[in-house]
Amino acid sequence: MLAHQWISFMERTMGARSSTLAAASAAVLLALALALPASVQAGNHGERLPMAPEEGQMVALVTGSTSGLGKEVARQLAAHGVHVIVHGRNIERGELLVEEIEEAGGSARFYPADFALMANVQALANRIKEDYDRLDLLLNNAGLSARGTEEAQITDDGNELLLQVNYLSHFLLTHELLPMLQASAPARIIHTASGAQAPLDFDDPNMENNYTSGRAYGQSKLAQITYSNALARRIEGTGVTTVSLHPGTFMPTRMVLGAGIEPQDDLEVGVNAIMNLITSKEIENGAYFNRQEQARAHDQAYDEEAQRKLWELSERLVGTR
Ligand SMILES: NC(=O)c1ccc[n+]([C@@H]2O[C@H](COP(=O)([O-])OP(=O)(O)OC[C@H]3O[C@@H](n4cnc5c(N)ncnc54)[C@H](OP(=O)(O)O)[C@@H]3O)[C@@H](O)[C@H]2O)c1
Repeated sequence: MLAHQWISFMERTMGARSSTLAAASAAVLLALALALPASVQAGNHGERLPMAPEEGQMVALVTGSTSGLGKEVARQLAAHGVHVIVHGRNIERGELLVEEIEEAGGSARFYPADFALMANVQALANRIKEDYDRLDLLLNNAGLSARGTEEAQITDDGNELLLQVNYLSHFLLTHELLPMLQASAPARIIHTASGAQAPLDFDDPNMENNYTSGRAYGQSKLAQITYSNALARRIEGTGVTTVSLHPGTFMPTRMVLGAGIEPQDDLEVGVNAIMNLITSKEIENGAYFNRQEQARAHDQAYDEEAQRKLWELSERLVGTR
């Protein structure tokens, strides 16, 4: 039943990719394009107000959509009639993307927030709850690597930087927005994780011992997957599905190019992998994907005791407990 609701929703909103829908898809997209709202103009002063979603329009939050994978997914969602909540730190790039989306006839708003401070994550969640009535898709995608650093960087909240930005911020954001996702069900949560995975040492999550930037990145990425698996059990039957993925290897984004790494996969490999999880009619709750294939992550992700410990640690570190 819930899967069917998602199907009809995706058919109506995005023109899903199945062959039976292929013929209908162009007409649906054309109808959507014609129906897309014009920018809202302020009556008295002629100022341009941020665009709001139309009644019934699908709403997606894409964290880390000021560049790379998130930016391209945001563009594609908007082109298919979804209102996109663009997020990142860089205000210029965020506003430029919103302008670009609006010029192409789409609808988006930019919300800046640096996840290196937990109060910013909470403030972002609060603003989304105030500004929106629905949320159909949460793409937990913002992330960074610490390649080249030789010791753990600790945030003002007292957490290892990558664990906080890549994982803990999304734990808090998801916790805050879950009721909205459930009220909008069928809805999806997608975690952009990685094939680079390192088990979390629950006695030393800040890596005071044996820090390497690779371990810090892998720990934060495996934490995303372990959390998705734990969350899947808790939200079973609510109409919200959570999945995680390795989008591709060394795609040419700021993160990879900035570290001087030779790119391997094209950006479209990762974008298509994420879009596949958005548009697939049925997706197993708690599944992990390697690009577009369902796969198995590190063993810790399936260890229920590790999931319980991670949940408790996360609640303690973000202050929801
Ligand atoms: N590229 C790859 O090959 C690859 C492979 C596996 C997984 N991934 C994952 O894919 C996701 C997207 O990365 P990308 O490759 O597209 O890199 P990217 O181009 O560097 O994009 C990273 C995004 O995250 C945002 N971000 C970084 N630090 C942040 C912070 N402290 N607070 C809030 N937002 C922050 C950035 O915002 P600003 O630019 O505005 O600061 C940007 O929008 C990441 O989670 C990454 O781990 C990438």
